[in-house]
Amino acid sequence: MKTITVFKGDGIGPEITDTVIDILKAAKAPLEYECFNVGAAEYERHGALVPDDAFQSFEKTHILLKSPITTPIGTGFRSINVMLRKKYDLFANIRPAKSNTAVKTPFPNVDLVTFRENTEDLYAGVEEKISDDEMHSIKIITRHASSRIIRAAFEYALSHNRHKVTCVHKANIMKLSDGMFLSIFREIAKEYPQIESDDKIVDNTCMQLVMHPENFDVMVMPNLYGDIISDLTSGLIGGLGLLPSMNIGSDYAMFEAVHGSAPDIAGKHIANPTALLWSACMLLEYIGETDTAKAIRRAVDDVLAEKKYLTPDLGGTAKTEEYRDAIIAKF
Ligand code: NAI
Ligand code: MG
Repeated sequence: MKTITVFKGDGIGPEITDTVIDILKAAKAPLEYECFNVGAAEYERHGALVPDDAFQSFEKTHILLKSPITTPIGTGFRSINVMLRKKYDLFANIRPAKSNTAVKTPFPNVDLVTFRENTEDLYAGVEEKISDDEMHSIKIITRHASSRIIRAAFEYALSHNRHKVTCVHKANIMKLSDGMFLSIFREIAKEYPQIESDDKIVDNTCMQLVMHPENFDVMVMPNLYGDIISDLTSGLIGGLGLLPSMNIGSDYAMFEAVHGSAPDIAGKHIANPTALLWSACMLLEYIGETDTAKAIRRAVDDVLAEKKYLTPDLGGTAKTEEYRDAIIAKF
């Protein structure tokens, strides 16, 4: 038995978390759960976004399954997501996007993985008000953070039988910051002669991704491009409801769906829990429970292929609970 920490979040967070835990239990995943409410609702209840015992649990288990948390815009309320990634140095944000034959999109052959640097770039939070009419946000790129995310991408390519790593950048304009990222990429690529490598400018990458997504394999990039490109890749495979992620550092690992708290559909029982469920599968694989992960993935694939219990984001009419029960019935 392995104990994991679970943050329930807000919006659709609590409902998809309960759904995923029901499925993990039905699949007999050898896990114990320490669950915590976090986010805006918890702030209103107890005055802290993340209660101290929630942090303490993660510091003990080192593994976190996290559901989405609302980040109000323009309140000075710092994103918990950005804070967690920085506090626990979760430097690699890994987002695999793979077409599923059950979900019809114009792009049937997508199978790519985004490696997003998670700790710096324009998300470092270095902002300055120069005057009422001028604001600066500073883009920070360091050799240390760039090297470790690029190396992580090549190591992943090696261990997952991937053939190519593409560096995504805007070094033609940001010659110093992205220029250094690209030159580090080229240096590290030489250490992996068995893996093909190339680079693309980020705007061209967007166009190529929607014209020929099958040409991409592993992609590595600074934080901001990774945020945007990985949402784009979720569109290629049928929407945010299907894109899982893991955020790993040297000591801690956090698994979460790429989507947010979807306040527009919260409480309506129509949220698609698949992205969080696949994130839980990545968690199981990370701790070596590959058979349980495989069983869950197979059950999900079967239910999606039958198309009888699809949630509305995938063109169906099923409630979250009906989709959950259809998956559980496969075990
Ligand atoms: P969002 O991802 O929550 O929603 C975008 C659209 O996709 C909405 O129409 C929503 O209904 C739909 N959607 C998202 N997840 C879905 C699911 N599982 N099933 C069915 N439909 C789904 O993005 P939005 O609206 O920009 O952000 C809402 C809040 O979430 C914001 O406060 C944002 O800061 C926060 N957020 C939190 C994240 C996290 O905790 N990791 C990540 C992204 C956003
Ligand atoms: Mg995002």
